[in-house]
Amino acid sequence: MEWEWSYLFFSSIILLPAFILFFSKKKTSKCSNKLPPGPPGLPIFGNMFELGTEPYKKMASLKQKYGPVLWLKLGTSSNIMVVQTAQAAAELFKNHDISFANRAIGDANLPHNYPQGSPALAPYGPFWRFLRRICTVDMFVHKKITETVPVRRKCVDNMLKWIEKAANSAEKGGGIEVTRYVFLASFNMLGNLILSKDLADPESEEASEFFNAMKGIMEWSGIPNVSDIFPFLRKFDLQNLRKKMTRDMGKAMEIVSIFLKERKEERKKGEDKGKDFLGVLLEFEGNGKDEPDKLSEHQMKVFILEMFLAGSETTSSSVEWALTELLRHPEAMDKVKREISEVVGPNRKFEESDIDNLPYMQAVIKESLRLHPPLPFLIPRETVQDTKFMGYDIPKDTRVLVNTWAIGRDPECWEDPMSFKPERFLGSKLDVKGQHYELIPFGAGRRICVGLPLGHRMMHFALGSLLHEFEWELPDCVSPKSINMDESMGTTARKALSLKVIPKRA
Ligand code: HEM
Repeated sequence: MEWEWSYLFFSSIILLPAFILFFSKKKTSKCSNKLPPGPPGLPIFGNMFELGTEPYKKMASLKQKYGPVLWLKLGTSSNIMVVQTAQAAAELFKNHDISFANRAIGDANLPHNYPQGSPALAPYGPFWRFLRRICTVDMFVHKKITETVPVRRKCVDNMLKWIEKAANSAEKGGGIEVTRYVFLASFNMLGNLILSKDLADPESEEASEFFNAMKGIMEWSGIPNVSDIFPFLRKFDLQNLRKKMTRDMGKAMEIVSIFLKERKEERKKGEDKGKDFLGVLLEFEGNGKDEPDKLSEHQMKVFILEMFLAGSETTSSSVEWALTELLRHPEAMDKVKREISEVVGPNRKFEESDIDNLPYMQAVIKESLRLHPPLPFLIPRETVQDTKFMGYDIPKDTRVLVNTWAIGRDPECWEDPMSFKPERFLGSKLDVKGQHYELIPFGAGRRICVGLPLGHRMMHFALGSLLHEFEWELPDCVSPKSINMDESMGTTARKALSLKVIPKRA
């Protein structure tokens, strides 16, 4: 879904008279604070019409004129600070991480008290730390990730079967949308890790209802909302986003309630499902009010939804970009295939344990994440308090975007930044784990992606298996140089036109 600024424009025009009245009643305060520089923008609307459908690109283009920290205004409420260089990001994460550790929460995320149980949206503080501890200690720790290898094996095997089946029934020379299957595999993997269920199973009614509701939530949360730009319009919910979110979140939570009930009954009967994420969460069950280190049933439900939201599209979009770049660069494709066939060979499957022995494939993924970070602004943060940052006075509640897209293409950090060259990472210690600020597709600092160990593993495993099992060809009318590389900004910055490819058994 695109950033439909023109739609926002027309929506706000309808209520312009009420809005001007409101605005004119507001006292204008003279602010002596030193704010970062930025384009002046229009009265009332600020810079909202200057950002286009790929705002991270537009903002990157403003770096030349305004420098490493940009100031924008959207509508009547949103002050936005954009961090545009690795040095500014280092300053933020190393020296001011706590001051920028809250999240900016949009109106569409408020239904069903969603932020209350959400590790991604909870305000920085003891409850967020508690949620984060559950993730790092009981879910994404190395030992747990290793114990769940068979789950991912099963999901990737299913993905390969679905792809083969789709390829057999596709029109000759046409191609299939491979991301669809990577998305289903990621979703299914999360279903198995979290609930021990196949949730991408088209035969199960509950599973398809849950899948559809979650797709809805992902879609609505990726659409820019006029209510966030002009908060006094919130009550009108002009794009119906809150309404649609309320419906789909409600549906998804209802289904999770059923799963929870089933699990509690199984536990009463002494039936053991092993320790999936739900099993972990149930160990912390409480009323969620006067017990600080406990979770209410509602908080558990939100937590579960969040893992699906945070983990499925990010992973599938990263794999799609990496495969796209390889198809555009046949010499890199040859190299990575050769490496895989030397390490894995033709007589067995690609295994997760192969990843460490494939430096070129790892470099391909880093290079692809550099050029196509799935979350080009990370997840927007918000200032906890007034903060002095790089000589500027940043007020409390400022929305903070870290433009990883711009940082990944900054000529001051990268030689020949626009070219896809995995070789740049060979023999380099640079990784994506939040210590090297020129490459932070998973973020950095306290709020770095908590699912990094799982997302990272899954991305490599899925891509490696796709490359090992199939030869990939482009449809008849497409050449490597003519692959459409347009991006579309929704929950993630994914390919605007899904990659279509023809898989042939290797
Ligand atoms: C390729 C895969 C993934 C990418 C590129 C990615 C990227 C990100 C980014 C950029 C952030 C924001 C970090 C910041 O603000 O500094 C984030 C946060 C988060 N991610 Fe991921 N992610 C991926 C996979 C996953 C998976 C598999 C899960 C869990 C199942 C997950 C769960 C989360 C959560 C819960 C947060 C919020 C952390 C917090 O606010 O404390 N992510 N992710």
